[in-house]
Amino acid sequence: MTNLQTETTNPINLQRQQHLINFIERYNQRTQTSKKLAQDYRQFLADNKTLVDFNPTLKELFYPIVAKTSSGTKIVDADGNEYIDLTMGFGVNLFGHNPLFIKEALFTQLEKGVQIGPQAELAGEVAQLICEFTGMERVTFSNTGTEAVMTAIRLARAATGRSKIALFTGSYHGHFDGTLAKKKLLNNPDSIPISPGTPINFVQDILVLDYNNDQSLELIKTHAQELAAVLVEPVQTRNISIQPQEFLQKLRKLTQVLDIPLIFDEMVTGFRIHPGGAQAWFGIQADIATYGKILGGGMPIGVIAGKAKYMNAIDGGIWHYGDASYPQEKTTFFAGTFCKHPLALAAAKVVLDYLKTQGAGLQDKLNILTSDFVNKLNNYFDQEKIPIQMASFGSIFGTASVTNDESEKNTEAAIVFDLLYYHLLFRGIMLRGNGGFLSTAHTQADIEQILWAVQDSVEELRAGYFLP
Ligand SMILES: Cc1ncc(COP(=O)(O)O)c(C=O)c1O
Repeated sequence: MTNLQTETTNPINLQRQQHLINFIERYNQRTQTSKKLAQDYRQFLADNKTLVDFNPTLKELFYPIVAKTSSGTKIVDADGNEYIDLTMGFGVNLFGHNPLFIKEALFTQLEKGVQIGPQAELAGEVAQLICEFTGMERVTFSNTGTEAVMTAIRLARAATGRSKIALFTGSYHGHFDGTLAKKKLLNNPDSIPISPGTPINFVQDILVLDYNNDQSLELIKTHAQELAAVLVEPVQTRNISIQPQEFLQKLRKLTQVLDIPLIFDEMVTGFRIHPGGAQAWFGIQADIATYGKILGGGMPIGVIAGKAKYMNAIDGGIWHYGDASYPQEKTTFFAGTFCKHPLALAAAKVVLDYLKTQGAGLQDKLNILTSDFVNKLNNYFDQEKIPIQMASFGSIFGTASVTNDESEKNTEAAIVFDLLYYHLLFRGIMLRGNGGFLSTAHTQADIEQILWAVQDSVEELRAGYFLP
């Protein structure tokens, strides 16, 4: 418990408590159906879908907003409240919600049927388009980003015959047990699972290295003989302000010299920062890259793209009819009932076609819109001496860095941050915890509305003695 709850004799805490009681009542009233659904089904639905952590002081606010409909930048909740969405499907909805060109492609595919089993009509074309955008040689499809990362790791291990994977502190690569690792000790790259349920065996081959730190390059040299891959999230959604071009270029050079496959996890950066993703942005060609999110246009998709040398482990490599060629490379196991799902491929095809016709101008414009937005926010926070600093990378924005430290959860600062999140929701702004995404659907009017909501929330929090 925090002193917000216990020290009720302090006049400031009394004011705060009064503010909380009043705000919680208004918020609960406005979003009563979402709260009721959370309560009614908690018994049946095991769910962690909240964008902030549980915190006893704010318990009565702790339920996800239930969405009913969406269009463009707007989401309408179960009580009919409208929100400007900044969650944007965790980075999926680059063109806003339900864009007509994707909806039409999905309808057309539904008319044709959802054939799972025979080869998907669009698989080859979509693979070719992804190669064109990313500079990779071959592509295969999965259903989620997590699967894509898992497969990329397997391909690297198959090709090298080595086991260890180096990844970096602060990165997120999905929920495959084999990446759910954290450092065992501060100054040692050996890892332990991040949570119960992942046996130590799953992560004993993971080295967790400090990001953007040259000492990590030394550790990669030390372990070169054992490393099957270095896996990197080029700009981490948890630390957007770190955009380490020089480090990434050194990492590329080093892994090339040591013949260690470099895997770029471009789940969030792919097709967003630039048509060629973070690799094009930073001037780096990885050996394998993983994609998803934007590409599926709202349908679940994962993509593993890479040099033929690695991708050939999927099918044995290239061969031709009418001669003596045959799949010669050693293969690894790869499967999935829903891989190359016709609806996901139909959406991916129109997304890629659309991005191709729009050209890099689409990303350029959106990147500028986002950095202008973040500058305006930072100017406001500076002016008002609010200790929040935002950063952006392409159309991703968020607080400059986010702690994953358990000890900092439920602190007074964390509560104030969560309260700001709820005050914004109350004013019709839906964030993704510490930040979010802009889409091509967001307008200046949306941005003005968001800035107003931030200012109004800050003023209310000040009036409630939560901010100085
Ligand atoms: C960088 C990165 N890699 C992998 C994943 C996992 O993708 P998915 O949630 O589709 O499994 C995510 C998801 O947010 C991600 O941000």
